[in-house]
Amino acid sequence: MLKDKNIILGVTGGIAAYKCVDLVSRLRKQGANVHVILTKGAQNFVTETAMREISGNPVVTSMWQEIQQYDVEHIALARLADVVLVAPATANVIAKCACGMADDMLTTTLLATKAPVFFAPAMNTNMYENSITQQNLHTLQERGCHIIDPAAGHLACGTSGVGRMPEPQELVEILVDFFATGKELAEPDEADSRQHLAEELDFSGLNILVTAAGTREPIDPVRYIGNRSSGKMGYAIAEAARDLGANVTLISGPSALTPLAGVNFFKVESARDMRRLVLENFPESQIVIKAAAVADYRVKNVADHKIKKNDEELTLVLEKNPDILKELGQKKQKGQVLVGFAAETQNLIQYAQSKLEKKNLDMIVANDVSKPQAGFNVDTNLIKLLKRDGSIEELPLMSKKDLAYIILNHVMKIYRQHN
Ligand code: CTP
Repeated sequence: MLKDKNIILGVTGGIAAYKCVDLVSRLRKQGANVHVILTKGAQNFVTETAMREISGNPVVTSMWQEIQQYDVEHIALARLADVVLVAPATANVIAKCACGMADDMLTTTLLATKAPVFFAPAMNTNMYENSITQQNLHTLQERGCHIIDPAAGHLACGTSGVGRMPEPQELVEILVDFFATGKELAEPDEADSRQHLAEELDFSGLNILVTAAGTREPIDPVRYIGNRSSGKMGYAIAEAARDLGANVTLISGPSALTPLAGVNFFKVESARDMRRLVLENFPESQIVIKAAAVADYRVKNVADHKIKKNDEELTLVLEKNPDILKELGQKKQKGQVLVGFAAETQNLIQYAQSKLEKKNLDMIVANDVSKPQAGFNVDTNLIKLLKRDGSIEELPLMSKKDLAYIILNHVMKIYRQHN
């Protein structure tokens, strides 16, 4: 997918810059032509020589240097780019780009390019979570830039939290995915477009309960059973519902996504924790959308201490978790709207239909997670909406943010029929 693609890699002054040597090497192995721009800050972490050797191309370090290979003006790279990736992207470069500044070669290229732009923010957690940075990222996203969620973990500043640059392999996969799917990505119809729906839909006065991400079922104090759900679909729905005026409660399993401002946010670990909070909030909610990937089983005897490796084999006995959605379906009162998700790898419609009925849902969002652009941990999804009247609405590949508005539009139609 990356063969002969011109990738402009903007490296800014964060400690994760050292990972870019590996990143460039991986991109080249995929057949890409990589052109590196190092900001002044980046040059404290990685040298021009290293980047030149690994990329096989001249490295741009200043607006004023004499560029041998591109004997053209200073926006040549902006024109050449099939994609621009800024990794790591510091809070500073994000802020500059959000304001449209162009005071060095990287920011100038970013302002001049028409190519898709990806930012991989990497910084201290507090800086990342600061509302100014979040606002800047939001601004960039609104203008069509792609923001790659930072990972959580140990940070160079000695703390732990969200703010790590994803591993080079993950960044390569994001670009591969983008070129594989980006061109097919459908724009919603005008009637279904985010802007149009935002004008049409009004959820004010409604309490919406959304669950998101996967649960973690402990094995011992340090290990757990989890799943690949990132929470992106559920968070997109909660965010859209908030923006449409709803009073949103978001109950999330562990996720690297930033907690949403302006919603009642609860973080939980296990299915049983999630069940408790969901049941507490259910009676007050007019609409419930269960996007969480809840573990169907938990470990029967969770060890009090870390399990040591002794025998060649280790057997874990699992017992069934409560099916939260099914319970809600049984408790549902007249007028409440209940929406579930079905992540399947085969017989999508048949399994989703049976869940819709068994769990007494009003609508189910079915997605085939065996497709690379759909389901877990990607920004896009390929879904079908199944309703109680037997109708099936098949949607083209779209961003989860666009789909969130379309799902809420269908939810509102059902809500109006019931109330
Ligand atoms: N769900 C839930 N509680 C569970 C399992 C699932 O509330 N213990 C919800 C999910 O949030 C989702 C829907 O049920 O909205 C579908 O989940 P899924 O695991 O696909 O369905 P299951 O009924 O568990 O069916 P199976 O595992 O057999 O596919």
